[in-house]
Amino acid sequence: MTTPKSDSLLRRFSIFYVGFAVIPIIVLFYLHSLYDETSSFIRISDTLFSLLLVLVGIISLLGFFGMRTALRRIVSFAESIKKTAFEKVDEKVLIELAKEEGEIGELAKSFGHILKRLDDNLHQLEETKKTLHDILKKVSEVLSSVESFDNLIRLVLETAVDALDAKRGALFSVEDGHYTLRAWVGKEGVSSEQVMSAAQAYLDLIAKENRIFISPAMENSEQTDELFAPPLVCTPLIYRGKTWGVLCLSGNRYGGNFSDDDLTIVSNLSHQIAISFENAKLNEDAEQTYFETMAALAMAVEARDPYSRGHSDRVGEYARKIGHSMGLPESSIQTLRDASRMHDIGKIGIRDAVLIKPGTLNMEERDIIRKHPIIGESIVLPLKTFKHLLDPIRHHHEQLDGSGYPDGLKGEEITPITRILTVADIYDALMTNRPYREGMDPDAIKKEFDHFVAAGKIDAEVVRHLYNMIDRGEMQPCG
Ligand SMILES: [Fe+2]
Ligand SMILES: [Fe+2]
Repeated sequence: MTTPKSDSLLRRFSIFYVGFAVIPIIVLFYLHSLYDETSSFIRISDTLFSLLLVLVGIISLLGFFGMRTALRRIVSFAESIKKTAFEKVDEKVLIELAKEEGEIGELAKSFGHILKRLDDNLHQLEETKKTLHDILKKVSEVLSSVESFDNLIRLVLETAVDALDAKRGALFSVEDGHYTLRAWVGKEGVSSEQVMSAAQAYLDLIAKENRIFISPAMENSEQTDELFAPPLVCTPLIYRGKTWGVLCLSGNRYGGNFSDDDLTIVSNLSHQIAISFENAKLNEDAEQTYFETMAALAMAVEARDPYSRGHSDRVGEYARKIGHSMGLPESSIQTLRDASRMHDIGKIGIRDAVLIKPGTLNMEERDIIRKHPIIGESIVLPLKTFKHLLDPIRHHHEQLDGSGYPDGLKGEEITPITRILTVADIYDALMTNRPYREGMDPDAIKKEFDHFVAAGKIDAEVVRHLYNMIDRGEMQPCG
């Protein structure tokens, strides 16, 4: 198929060709006209003239059609190339041209191969684009659905392992040169210590060189028990010049190595994870500041009432001691301390006339006071870092027989941490002077607790530990 432009080219060729073809004919006529002149040394007879005229005519016609056909093919080929650059290629023309013998056919075949490779590359690019799109989609779903940062990075790691068809993955955070395993995907039943030990050499290398480390697959590499058997890629998680951790992916479900596209994905993903680490840290810092401010406010609220001054700090100390005595892990002890500091923060919303009223409270005033666990919960609710404090704050006035408030929880519905906080809270209340009574001595306190335990209101095991410490003289008020 030709375009108006190529038609014009063919027309110009025809005009020029005819123009040039006429020249030998004119020369022939001229030479023949000299035939009668005896002085002429060129003699062309009529017969020779006719033969030459026919011969020149035939050669001119053959040359014309031959060259026009060749030119038409070149024009058609050029049109195909042009179409490839600007629109869809006309494959029919290319196939027809490729059937031709000679240079045009060879050119068309080569061009066909180039097109095929371009098409394959395009296909590969689309695949990579789709993979990246899927990853980003999953990551954004994860970001909007997960509640804690650790869940987030675990889901991101699972997505990375899936996207690269890897077998195992590990994500480490680093602080002051000390690495911590934050997420592991791979062999079940492997402890954090085993993963850390297997990764130590690579983590040391990355700490030293701060660049991506790639170890290609080796023969039989999958038959070893190594947690980070090659192919392996470990990359530092860098954002704004700070290294936040390391991402390692190992093994390939289909054998072979990670491709260049895989490494590009790893690089992009590691950058995104590093940004998430920084955001989480900023958020954590902001939440810690908010928490400290609220804790300071809680103390200020307590200070309004001379009888409750220092209450939260003392409750924290008693709860910590009971927790230690019961053999709780350090994380639970920390929860007890933080929850104690904030357990009465809800009193911030209660007016002094009710909060520090010297006499007995009426029903309405009592209901107002009973709202403080719910108000306290709502104050801490926005803090993702302190979600574990919500339960003890809301439920520190619940009782095992369901007679407490605000939800009337019973038995197992009240967590061990909250039970300890409740006992510590009551213990401080009994120890402290009140407008209507002096602080109680240990025997009187034990009598009160015996009564609560007998009524099935508080945890007998927690009270047993409290008694042991009272007997050892370890439950004196601090400060
Ligand atoms: Fe309270
Ligand atoms: Fe309290």
